[in-house]
Amino acid sequence: MSKRKAKDAHLPIGECISQVHQILRKRFCHQQLPVKPEGVEAQHKHLAELLKRTAVHGESNSVLIVGPRGAGKTMLLKSVLRELSQETEVQKNLLQVHLNGLLQTDDRIALKEITRQLQLENVVGDKVFGSFAENLTFLLDALKKGDRSSSRPVLFVLDEFDLFAQHKNQTLLYNLFDVSQSAQAPVAVVGLTCRLDVLELLEKRVKSRFSHRQMHLLSKLTFPQYLERIRDQLSLPDDFPDGKFAQEWNAGVTTLCEDKSAEEVLQRYFNSSTDFRSLHTLLMLCLSRVSVARPSITPADLLDASRFCLADANANMLHGLSILELCLIIAMKHLNDVYEGEPFNLQMVHNEFKKFLQRKSNSMYNFEQPVIMKAFEHLQQLELIQPADGASDKTQREFQLMRLMLDHSQIMEAMQKYPQCPTDVKQWATSAFA
Ligand SMILES: Nc1ncnc2c1ncn2[C@@H]1O[C@H](COP(=O)(O)OP(=O)(O)OP(=O)(O)O)[C@@H](O)[C@H]1O
Ligand SMILES: [Mg+2]
Repeated sequence: MSKRKAKDAHLPIGECISQVHQILRKRFCHQQLPVKPEGVEAQHKHLAELLKRTAVHGESNSVLIVGPRGAGKTMLLKSVLRELSQETEVQKNLLQVHLNGLLQTDDRIALKEITRQLQLENVVGDKVFGSFAENLTFLLDALKKGDRSSSRPVLFVLDEFDLFAQHKNQTLLYNLFDVSQSAQAPVAVVGLTCRLDVLELLEKRVKSRFSHRQMHLLSKLTFPQYLERIRDQLSLPDDFPDGKFAQEWNAGVTTLCEDKSAEEVLQRYFNSSTDFRSLHTLLMLCLSRVSVARPSITPADLLDASRFCLADANANMLHGLSILELCLIIAMKHLNDVYEGEPFNLQMVHNEFKKFLQRKSNSMYNFEQPVIMKAFEHLQQLELIQPADGASDKTQREFQLMRLMLDHSQIMEAMQKYPQCPTDVKQWATSAFA
């Protein structure tokens, strides 16, 4: 009853907006765990089962979670641990050690941290150990249950796992995997990494002790699904204090996602990255513009935010080019438009440039072939153009097939900002056909 009442309440607009900020900010930048992580259900189930087997049945396990930055590796693990923490059996048994390759930069520091997190500093005291393995065994032995019949299961989480492979002799990894393989003590080793080739980094003796269990978090998201995700992320929950406001806001979000220009912006953003982290950055920038005076997100907000997020080095590099080099880029853009992205050679670019010059009477842009050649080479050095696949080095330079590494919008945007760009060049860039 009271909840119903709260939903029907009408709050002042200022109050509503501050609630929107609070709720969405929590979602976008406080690393709040989603109620149900979408898209990784299978991995979630698998990992939960694996850890439960260690926690409840004392089975040892090792697994690597591999995925690009921001794909949700940490989120997956945290959400599994949250689920498991609700089971008393797991909660009273399982000990956790969280290490990070960026913090524990060598195995001595890592061992110290393990001791600290297991609260065994007093037990260890001033003892001196012969080897790393001896020390680790001592720690695990110290965790025996009250009746001393079995050890307590320990979960070792190694974030930035690949960095541990750089430690001398990979001692920590070797010992952890060794324990996980022998029946010495129940441990689960979970490594998180963005290196797909992570196994190649392991020494043979380490690799052979690893279970070779890997989970990949590679996104197979389609654009419509991405739009749906954006709508979800921007929507207000059912229990928002002012029901009417929430309804209007959510309707506004739907309209935004269906807007043609917004869709265009999002498509571009989608092409560059699909992970949650970059999406959250984009949405956070949009959200920061929401105020009482502008109580919704507009396509223009999205456009500005995406410009900010996608401001890339290549487009910025165009600002430093000479007029000739810029003209060559425009000629290539036209060639790309006409031949739909097929590779081109310098001769074709030069011809395209000549067509532009013919339409003009003054000879301000008349350059000798070697000068043009030099400019072309400079563009290649800057990696704004690159040889097309399969282009052989033997072909004469003018005829070597090249590709432009910039897209249409990058060029147009750079043109807008190019300092004192001659108007005729600008016009040429925007004209549909040269
Ligand atoms: N399925 C999901 N649902 C909702 N939010 C998610 C999901 N996956 C990831 N996120 C969010 O995306 C952000 C990045 O995720 P996370 O930190 O887990 O990435 P990561 O793979 O660990 O990246 P890194 O390699 O940099 O450590 C977090 O804020 C997280 O809450
Ligand atoms: Mg992480």
